[in-house]
Amino acid sequence: MILRLLTTLNYRNLCDQDMAFEQGIHSISGLNGQGKTNVLEALYLVLTGVVDAGRLQQLVRFEETEAYVRATLERDEGQSIAEVGIGRGKRLMKLDGVRVKSAELLRGGAVFIAPEDSDIVFGSPSVRRKFLDDLLSKISARYAQALDLYQKNLAQRNAALKNDEQWALEVFDAKLAELGTLVMDLRQRAIQKIQKYASEAHTRIGGRGELGVTLQETTSIEGYARDFLLKRSEEFARQSTVIGPHRDDLVLTLRGQPASDFASRGEARTIALALRYAEYELLFERYQENPILLIDDFSAELDPERRTALIELARRSPQALITGTEPLPHAEHHYRMQGGRLERVQ
Ligand SMILES: Nc1ncnc2c1ncn2[C@@H]1O[C@H](COP(=O)(O)OP(=O)(O)O)[C@@H](O)[C@H]1O
Ligand SMILES: [Mg+2]
Repeated sequence: MILRLLTTLNYRNLCDQDMAFEQGIHSISGLNGQGKTNVLEALYLVLTGVVDAGRLQQLVRFEETEAYVRATLERDEGQSIAEVGIGRGKRLMKLDGVRVKSAELLRGGAVFIAPEDSDIVFGSPSVRRKFLDDLLSKISARYAQALDLYQKNLAQRNAALKNDEQWALEVFDAKLAELGTLVMDLRQRAIQKIQKYASEAHTRIGGRGELGVTLQETTSIEGYARDFLLKRSEEFARQSTVIGPHRDDLVLTLRGQPASDFASRGEARTIALALRYAEYELLFERYQENPILLIDDFSAELDPERRTALIELARRSPQALITGTEPLPHAEHHYRMQGGRLERVQ
């Protein structure tokens, strides 16, 4: 898929404008705080719908109440238009003029690579769960739906624990175990592919030592009901659900040791990049369409090996948008971002 035109209205600091793009690598350079990240973020949102719900209203320009983003895309089957309107902390998404739910978006449309990706290695388990949940939601509507229902049921069950409603638990236990089992099953299947693609990419991009990607689960599919009973008193004491996929972790190991404890900063960046490679492969495998590659802050990737790996991935994609403080020599198209306005440099 190729982005032809990106239009934003009242989106953060971006000037209301139509931005035209072509095939190949685009360099978007500019000083800090000019709006480079905002362009990539706007595109990622309109394609995949992925954004932290709590942050939605922050996307609307200060002093305004509503924002709008539109992407005009060229796909194998012809032109497509994706739109998102944001207002009052909510969003409305359309594909080719028809209102769509999250599951019907162009979920395989883009992969976003940013320096913060190292947080997947060093951050708390919630960062790794988010990586996994975002990726799985992109490749499986069933997963997105199961996870959403799981979280709603979890909130209800936690409320019951807080209010000491013993009688309610039996109902919630059964429902939560059913949804949790589905989430766990889909995760277990995906993790094998992620492990395979990520470890291959890790070796190819110069990572030293074997990369391991496994799940650390707080219960098992077979033992879910039993574990609920075993944890009963602990859960009432803590007033929260202590087992299930919302407490599981994605364990990354390098040379058999936990990467979160032992990896160097450079090694962590290579691992994170290998995981993005895996994401790219899984999306391609699922949709048979190359995602648009968005690389934020290329200048932060100082290590020559990782720079080469990023450019290699960008070359594989029919289209890449890469930001940095300096123009990127490898790019076919050059743009400058200044004060929210994107301008082509000849
Ligand atoms: N809702 C908003 N309204 C107006 N400006 C915003 C909004 N959100 C962020 N900004 C501004 O956008 C700028 C940051 O843009 P960003 O894309 O992160 O810059 P860059 O990536 O070029 O360093 C900051 O100056 C910030 O104040
Ligand atoms: Mg930035």
